[in-house]
This record gives sequence, C-alpha cells and structure tokens, in this order.
Amino acid sequence: MTVAEIEQYLAPIRHEYPDPRSLIIPALKYAQGDAGWLPPEAMAAVAEATGFSQAYVESVATFYDRLYVDEVGRYCINVCVTLSCMLRGSDELFEHIADYLGLDGEGTTDDGMFTLARVQCIGACDRAPCLQVDSGVQLGPLEPADATCLIDDLRAEPAPARYDR
Ligand code: FES
Repeated sequence: MTVAEIEQYLAPIRHEYPDPRSLIIPALKYAQGDAGWLPPEAMAAVAEATGFSQAYVESVATFYDRLYVDEVGRYCINVCVTLSCMLRGSDELFEHIADYLGLDGEGTTDDGMFTLARVQCIGACDRAPCLQVDSGVQLGPLEPADATCLIDDLRAEPAPARYDR
C-alpha cells in the first residue's frame, strides 16, 4: 500500500473527520487491506498520508485489537471474553477452538489459515458466547460444536460469503 493510494482513499472522506487524528483509524484499516495486517512500511505510509509521526500511528494501531501489527492468518477468529460471554462459556469455547486448531492459546496455525485471539466485547452480548471472524458478523450463541462446524466451513473453498470477510 503506497502513500498515494492511502491519500487517494482518504481524499473523499477527509471532510468527515474534522480532527485529523481521527483519520488515522480509517487509514490504517484501509492500509491493512488484503494482507490483513500492518507491516512497518504500511504504518510509515499511513504516517506520511495523515501527517503524523510513525510512532504516533503505531500507538494507535497497537491500541485497537482489530488492527494487526503482526502477521495474521487468512481468517482471524476473535472470541469475546468479556463478562457476558465469559459467564456463558467463552473460556470453554476458546479452549475448544484452540484445541481443534492445534494451538496452545492465542496464535496462528502452522498452515497460516487461522489466527485465534481473545477480544473484548464485540457488541453482541445478547448472543453470548460469541465470536467474530475478521470484521464480519458476530456469531452466537455458539456451542463448541458450532465452532467446529464454522472452522470446517472456513477451511472449505471457496470461503462462504456469509462470514462477510
Ligand atoms: Fe461478549 Fe459483549 S460481552 S459480546
């Protein structure tokens, strides 16, 4: 992702962000793009396009759990572990998914297909326990077996559109 591409993306939406600091998040989301994560070059490009230092841009990127500063798998499975989900079994759901993926907690599978993470509330507390794949819809309430089916579906080609990557 080049500086010019980011500037071109920001040009029609700049007026919606009177405080230029608030442009950083849409710029980072855009720069995350197809790669799905933000290597240092992408953060440098966002810094130049928005007029902030790279250190400041990186501080924003590391604050939000949907902006990835490390390489991630093709799918990011984000399991909510905040109170409503925790009380309804999110720890068991997370552990089941980790076991099924062969992971020891959070991390990325060896084949690069999945990154599993614990995240804070994803705004679907009424469907606890729930998870979100990438930036798609929140899925819940989920039993561990539901998560197994979801992973099997995601492994299938082509990726099911319903997960709204
Ligand atoms: Fe899990 Fe809100 S607590 S979605």
